[in-house]
Amino acid sequence: MTTYITTPIYYVNAEPHLGHAYTTIVADTYSRFRRLQGEKVRFQTGTDEHGDKIAEAATREGLSPKEYVDRISSLFRETWPLLSVVPDNFIRTTDGHHMDTVQKILQQVYDQGDIYFDEYSGLYCKGCERFLTEKELVDGKCPDHQIEPAEISEQNYFFRMSRYQQQLIDHIEANPEFITPERYRNEVLSFLSEPLEDLCISRPTSRLTWGIPLPFDDSFVTYVWFDALINYLSGLGYPDGPEFKSYWGEAEHLIAKDILKPHAIYWPTMILSLGLPLYKKLHVHGYWNMDETKMSKSIGNVVRPAELVEAYGVDCLRYFTLREMSFGLDASFSSEAIVARMNSDLANDLGNLYSRSTAMLVKYTGGVVPDPAADQTADTLLEELALSVLTRYQEAMEDFQFHRALQALWELISVANKYIVINEPWALAKDPVQEGRLHAVLYNLVEVLRLLTLLLQPVMPGTCARMAIGLGLEGESPLVTRLESGGGWGLLPVGTHLQKIDALFPRVEQKQVKPAVQKESGQKKKKQKSKGQVAVGVISFEQFQAVELRVAEIVAAEPVKKSDRLLKLTVKAPEERVIVAGIGEYYRPQELLGMLVLIVANLEPVSLMGVESQGMVLAAKMEEGGEQRLVLSTVSGPVTPGSRVA
Ligand code: MSP
Repeated sequence: MTTYITTPIYYVNAEPHLGHAYTTIVADTYSRFRRLQGEKVRFQTGTDEHGDKIAEAATREGLSPKEYVDRISSLFRETWPLLSVVPDNFIRTTDGHHMDTVQKILQQVYDQGDIYFDEYSGLYCKGCERFLTEKELVDGKCPDHQIEPAEISEQNYFFRMSRYQQQLIDHIEANPEFITPERYRNEVLSFLSEPLEDLCISRPTSRLTWGIPLPFDDSFVTYVWFDALINYLSGLGYPDGPEFKSYWGEAEHLIAKDILKPHAIYWPTMILSLGLPLYKKLHVHGYWNMDETKMSKSIGNVVRPAELVEAYGVDCLRYFTLREMSFGLDASFSSEAIVARMNSDLANDLGNLYSRSTAMLVKYTGGVVPDPAADQTADTLLEELALSVLTRYQEAMEDFQFHRALQALWELISVANKYIVINEPWALAKDPVQEGRLHAVLYNLVEVLRLLTLLLQPVMPGTCARMAIGLGLEGESPLVTRLESGGGWGLLPVGTHLQKIDALFPRVEQKQVKPAVQKESGQKKKKQKSKGQVAVGVISFEQFQAVELRVAEIVAAEPVKKSDRLLKLTVKAPEERVIVAGIGEYYRPQELLGMLVLIVANLEPVSLMGVESQGMVLAAKMEEGGEQRLVLSTVSGPVTPGSRVA
């Protein structure tokens, strides 16, 4: 099996932003997924370097077009490694072989009578670099660029697009998967229900010189879209290159909805004119918005991939974009949204599952994967779920439903976390009779981790490489790099030695929590205090997140002078701090030493009986025989002091 996946080639009139990064991350993830399935993959991206917009941008910068395109094209090329994106080919439309291919194709289409010369007048949008029809305008303006198109009248060469209209309609109708998601297929069919006009494919050199000359008339250069779309063929060495023969039949193009028409109408009609088989699929996604508006250079509301990687890390960014956007629909970017996903999905769900499970293995079996065979318990919960998740994940990834694929994996993570709570390995470890059961529970947990390492690899390659090392597997082990060999249950070899690795995900800085929310929760606390009772009511997830709960180890305890009720606790969380707690009536200082308790770590310090308290210890309030009692909330199991609680 073979896959050829492409991104649009990006205009070099702007530096890369999150929108470009998203498409390219998707293509990279898909190509890694196909490789996981054992396929031969070619992944191509690149830059689109001709046309009015580029020539103008170069002039604005005081550079020649060539100097300018070299500079911006390398910015794109240099961005991809930062995002762990590894294309097999980076094509530039100023590459000699691409320009030769464009000229060869123009000559062929001209010779067979699909290009003709004519007078034309129409409404030209500089932003789109094409003539628009009246119907496409909104309030007389181009809806994408918010500018009125210019009325241009000139002689030009035209491509007989209309000749292939019916053939294209027939193909789309016969192949429901040709354009997906369905809404874009419907949009294209609706557009094709009206007669197609032919496509103007030249620009007179009197107006524009920065383009590929028409081979049959050098007073014209090629229209930028006719030039650009051909990259998908020239990048394979069309017509004679071996890559063209192996990959063209498997071509899948990935774009956002802004360039649907060139890809769903111009390009297939060009391919039909060349007598080639049509590409296999066109995958169309929505926009990344900032405050409801499409992120774009012209609006200036862009976020730069390099800055995002620096702030959040590459794998968190990849995970966030793929999880947050439902493929095909628009999504909104905000730092709150990315921090929320990092805290809950990554640090909390996945990070904790990994650290708890591996720490228990280290503690109870010396870090050696135990043999589950002695256990007789009918315990197929994780196994059955894992196998169903595996199927759902594969189907979703094949359909470009990345958010669904990740949702399925998180279902497994959540159940595995609950499996720990239900089976209490720390309790099993205390009873020698339960050793077989303990080994089975631990084995199941690390096997879930192995499966996650395999399946998350296309999305978070760096993290998965570390997870593989932690599980005692080499990065290239077929158990974590191939679905064929790793996509089953019970495959992690008994006796494998786990390795120590650092926490999978960095803790997210407090500064990234909204200040407005902190204020709100502070106010609520004051009200509670004055009433002397717990407020009943619903709080938002953000409000809950503003409360920083941590695990703390009590390293010293002593009574506060002149108080029976207050104890001065020194805790490690992970830095040392003092907390004054009203538990003196219920606990003696010595019995508290070494206890792992839960604290609120981000409360404003207060002074109690002259001792500054930096936080609060959580305890359950109980009524016993008419008396009130406080029971400290503790953590069982191996947890590092300072761990966040969510
Ligand atoms: N050069 C043409 C494409 C030629 S392909 C033969 C072009 N370039 S572009 O630089 O404008 O890139 C458009 C593409 O960048 C979109 O289709 C999408 O892949 C990506 N995106 C740019 N802004 C985006 C968002 N705000 N949101 C999502 N994707 C976005 O068009």
